[in-house]
Amino acid sequence: MGLLALYMAPLQGLTEAPFRNSFERNFGGVDAYFTPFVRQEHGGPRRKDLRGLEPDANAVPRLVPQLMAASADEADLLLRPIAALGYREFDLNLGCAFPAMAKKGKGCGILPYPERVADLLGIAGRHPEYAFSVKMRLGYEDAEECMRLLPVLNAARLSRVTVHARTGKQQYKGECDLAAFARFAAECRHPVVYNGDVRTLEGIGAMQRDFPFLQGVMLGRGLLAAPWLAAEYRQGEEWTTEARLAALRSLHRDVLEAYSQRLEGGEGQLLTTMKGFWDYWYPEGDRKWHKKISKSTKLVDYLQAVSCLLEA
Ligand SMILES: Cc1cc2nc3c(=O)[nH]c(=O)nc-3n(C[C@H](O)[C@H](O)[C@H](O)COP(=O)(O)O)c2cc1C
Repeated sequence: MGLLALYMAPLQGLTEAPFRNSFERNFGGVDAYFTPFVRQEHGGPRRKDLRGLEPDANAVPRLVPQLMAASADEADLLLRPIAALGYREFDLNLGCAFPAMAKKGKGCGILPYPERVADLLGIAGRHPEYAFSVKMRLGYEDAEECMRLLPVLNAARLSRVTVHARTGKQQYKGECDLAAFARFAAECRHPVVYNGDVRTLEGIGAMQRDFPFLQGVMLGRGLLAAPWLAAEYRQGEEWTTEARLAALRSLHRDVLEAYSQRLEGGEGQLLTTMKGFWDYWYPEGDRKWHKKISKSTKLVDYLQAVSCLLEA
């Protein structure tokens, strides 16, 4: 069996340019990176989101901007300034479960409405010069919704459909519904990518074995917890603990450095941003140091705790 494509999932506040660039430098193994969703503000992409897409700020070989829109018109407003930066491939967010977005009929809030989804996917017809993919959940309330969406999805010009195998109501909790994913994937005419709770090489292998039609797996929190996962899969062997920790120390140094140059809110803002990563990074590390990291209020204390945690 050939190797699956591996994609880095978009994680708002985490997989931004500083992290993606540092990840590619220290680990890699990922076929494409997806940006956290770009949202609309004052009739165009939010300025902060657009800045994060500047080619100068991005060093990964393949970056796919993700758009959050409720209609083709709204998607168009987002797409044009981003395409002007040189992007040719876009992902549409049909999965975000933030209540503020879902209530506006965006993200997973659009899934119960096939006619609205059809309108949104019309963006692919308007722009035959670009490739479009979709990242969705099984439904908002229940997993029947994705089955009702199949005619609309199958009729659209899409390069890939990635499914986070949960409903919006589940948020990030509870089991992924693999049976519902299999039912959907069997009838989906586009290349299908699985997403949700894959954290190990065995996990990737099980997906490939159980769903031989899969085009790829998208990795989110699992790739933060074990950033070596995609590289190990690609290389066909596990890294040593020393090699993993050395690369993680280097990743941490690079991310910290990138954010220190970028953030203007001083030490406090830098610490808050970095602590966000430690909610996911290296969960098998000593809890004592994890706790020190999360309680630290000064950069020196933070750095000391990180250095103890990542000692080989
Ligand atoms: C903090 C956080 C932010 C997220 N931001 C996005 C986002 O911007 N766009 C998106 O499509 N999904 C987003 N997701 C969902 C993830 O991409 C992914 O679908 C989900 O975490 C399940 O995959 P995993 O178990 O591999 O993490 C986010 C998830 C988390 C935990």
